[in-house]
Amino acid sequence: MHLGLIGYGNIAATLMGFLAAPGAPAVTRVTLLVRPGRAEAARAALADHPAETSVVEEAAALVAAGPDLVVEAAGHSGVRDFVPACLEAGRDVVVVSVGALADDELHARLDAAARAGGARVILPAGAVGGIDLVSALSASGEVALTYRGTKPPAAWAGTPADEMLDLAGLCEPATFFTGSAREAAARFPKNANVAATLALAGPGLDATRVELVADPAAPGNLHGYELSSPAARLRVEIENLPSAGNAKTSVATIYSVLREIRNRIGPMVI
Ligand SMILES: NC(=O)c1ccc[n+]([C@@H]2O[C@H](COP(=O)([O-])OP(=O)(O)OC[C@H]3O[C@@H](n4cnc5c(N)ncnc54)[C@H](O)[C@@H]3O)[C@@H](O)[C@H]2O)c1
Repeated sequence: MHLGLIGYGNIAATLMGFLAAPGAPAVTRVTLLVRPGRAEAARAALADHPAETSVVEEAAALVAAGPDLVVEAAGHSGVRDFVPACLEAGRDVVVVSVGALADDELHARLDAAARAGGARVILPAGAVGGIDLVSALSASGEVALTYRGTKPPAAWAGTPADEMLDLAGLCEPATFFTGSAREAAARFPKNANVAATLALAGPGLDATRVELVADPAAPGNLHGYELSSPAARLRVEIENLPSAGNAKTSVATIYSVLREIRNRIGPMVI
């Protein structure tokens, strides 16, 4: 497979490490799109990678390289700036920054670009599990879903939680946000991907309830949700380890992206 990758931060670098390991999906070529001025550093970092790698700085160059699948791991601006062009050119894109789709205008733009190019936007499960059942049950009638995201105080640094709480001095759990998944995605864009994923799979961004918690005793990034529907009830608790390069990102997210790649290559999809 020829993989296109947008952004070269924590997720992309860790993913490239996974792809270099024995038994990894057969990705033989990678074209990486980075911000202007970052190409040299990315080339140096990937010099010893077993796949043939090239680094570009424009969407047109990524599209022209002809990747079989593109993975976006660059945040909301990366989705806005580069994903529509890939879709219009017929390239399926795994959008990791799912929270970007809480912006209705961008959502509609991706939808139109995918239709124009005959391509698909693939939203990975990311840090959360059970998305298959949440998505399936959304067809069963009225679905109620409440999500609680709990992270150690350090993982909320640099977000509005910084102004609402004394993160460094916190001695007990503090719920600093209660609202809809749409509001969570707008106010905590780097931490609301799970809420957005659950909402898009389930009852939607306005109907999905979200609580965000800073907990000094949290052993990692905790994702919990409860769903009730006419066909089933579901209670899920996930304890994720943060990734080494970014405490906000659970390492399970990167395995989830690897899964999307594996499912595109292997004879069986699971
Ligand atoms: N779906 C999920 O469950 C989930 C979980 C964790 C993180 N995420 C999202 O994945 C994305 C990446 O996470 P990360 O941990 O790698 O973050 P990161 O900050 O380590 O890396 C992001 C990289 O993208 C680059 N970038 C930013 N804007 C860009 C642009 N316009 N063009 C090219 N490159 C650009 C940055 O320079 C940085 O290197 C974030 O949006 C994050 O919110 C999703």
